[in-house]
Amino acid sequence: MDAAFFDRWSLEYDDDVIACDEANLYPFAGYRRTLESLLDAIKAKPGAKVLDLGFGTAKLTQKLYDTGYEISGLDFSPEMCRIAQEKMPKAQLICFDFAQGLPDAIKDARFDIIVSSYAFHHVPDSLKPTRIVEWYDALNPGGVILIGDVAFLNEQSLELSRDDAGDEWDEDEDYMVFSSLQPEIAHLSPKYEQISHCAGFLTIYKTYC
Ligand SMILES: C[S@@+](CC[C@H](N)C(=O)[O-])C[C@H]1O[C@@H](n2cnc3c(N)ncnc32)[C@H](O)[C@@H]1O
Repeated sequence: MDAAFFDRWSLEYDDDVIACDEANLYPFAGYRRTLESLLDAIKAKPGAKVLDLGFGTAKLTQKLYDTGYEISGLDFSPEMCRIAQEKMPKAQLICFDFAQGLPDAIKDARFDIIVSSYAFHHVPDSLKPTRIVEWYDALNPGGVILIGDVAFLNEQSLELSRDDAGDEWDEDEDYMVFSSLQPEIAHLSPKYEQISHCAGFLTIYKTYC
């Protein structure tokens, strides 16, 4: 799925996602609960400096923007960037492929929260540990990485979901499998919670010392 795909999907995206969640179907079963979990975790840090990776139509970040959070974000779809910038005129939104790292404009910035909802599967598995370590380095002490996405505790639960989804399963997406990722980032003490049969939530806190 490239930026042009998301440009075309941008106007129907919100309705499609909710319909899929309501039907409890892959890939968006648990979408609203995942966003609520992300928002609950973020509410613990009112007014924080937030970086949203793959902000899309700003379903998550607009709520934060409207309540005084300082928002930066990366998304590689120009159309998603346009829609989100209209909703959040003062946010620093950059059209950029976050799988490649952080752009120069924010390379030296530090954030209290780095959040990503339903976009981490666009980072190839081989790059996931490197990107997470870079994002960790971009946190202020006491900051947190929050990733909600299509995700699985282990390979067996991914296989169950793949069987269940049948032809709907997207072979091009690299869904997080926590048991495979965990050893690569164990030094960051990641925590994982399963939200639905195909949604999961990764939390990594940066300690003060
Ligand atoms: C499924 S949508 C999720 C949007 C939003 N975060 C949400 O929860 O509804 C994925 C978003 O990530 C963006 N995206 C996908 N791969 C990306 C990449 N490599 N770099 C930057 N943005 C990417 C897409 O353009 C799209 O806006």
